[in-house]
Amino acid sequence: MTEHVVIEKSKGILTLTLARSEKKNALTNAMYGRLADALEAAETDPGARVILIRGQGDMFTSGNDVGEFADIAAGGARGEQHVGRFLRALVQSSRPLIAAVQGRAVGIGTTMLLHCDLVVLAENALLSTPFVSLALVPEAASSLLLPLRIGHARAYEMFALGEPVPAAKAFDWGMANRVVPLGRLDEEAGELAGRLAKQPVGALAVTKRLMRRADVLAAQVATESERFAERLKTAEAREAFTAFAERRPPDFMKLAS
Ligand code: COA
Repeated sequence: MTEHVVIEKSKGILTLTLARSEKKNALTNAMYGRLADALEAAETDPGARVILIRGQGDMFTSGNDVGEFADIAAGGARGEQHVGRFLRALVQSSRPLIAAVQGRAVGIGTTMLLHCDLVVLAENALLSTPFVSLALVPEAASSLLLPLRIGHARAYEMFALGEPVPAAKAFDWGMANRVVPLGRLDEEAGELAGRLAKQPVGALAVTKRLMRRADVLAAQVATESERFAERLKTAEAREAFTAFAERRPPDFMKLAS
């Protein structure tokens, strides 16, 4: 069991803290496993009426661990890959999900927000989905959810150019419920979680089911995952991961189409 996800429960609120700040909370297979276990267990836990997801340190998360992407691409990853189970649990969770986001939310750090029912951003939050810059494709049903949420033009630009979107703009685009000063982030998210925890859990679950088509989202995740797995094995992806490890920009122009 990894110590990189801290799990706490109090007053009906299950708090999941990404706690690998020395690597900017980059998500490993073990972390996905622990998050998936927690989301699955919450379904039948009367003490987990609301789930709050947050990150330790100066950012929410830098996204999937790029070193682990490189291992998978090189055929070196062993054992069960938990990301699929995490995404299924996220899509199927009947509990209200709240995210508290400071600093960068990269890749899955942003796409998981599309599955959260309330999103609170600190003023310094920066949301980005640089899948194409890593020679990959969108995941977590974001190829469906992001254009629906913010419109095709903005979503395409976020995917294709990977530029970070600042908190104020993300709020204007409908990606968040609140933007607050960094010092008030935990308080605001905690207060919203506390209010939701007092609401009738059954009515919240049915409301969520009516608003989110888990079957449609799961099908989109499955299709994206196939494309994603193919992309991981390409020469473009190898160049992207090597460039990250060598701390240099990738050079895709040297590769044939
Ligand atoms: N996977 C693996 N390691 C990561 C990581 C990631 N996604 N993001 C950061 N790290 C590591 C760095 O390699 C560095 O490790 P080191 O101290 O052993 O050298 C450490 O975390 C600190 O990161 P650093 O890049 O120095 O922090 P920063 O504040 O200058 O930049 C980011 C933060 C998030 C902008 C930058 O780390 C980044 O672009 N990371 C990759 C994001 C990404 O592409 N994620 C995948 C999306 S699909």
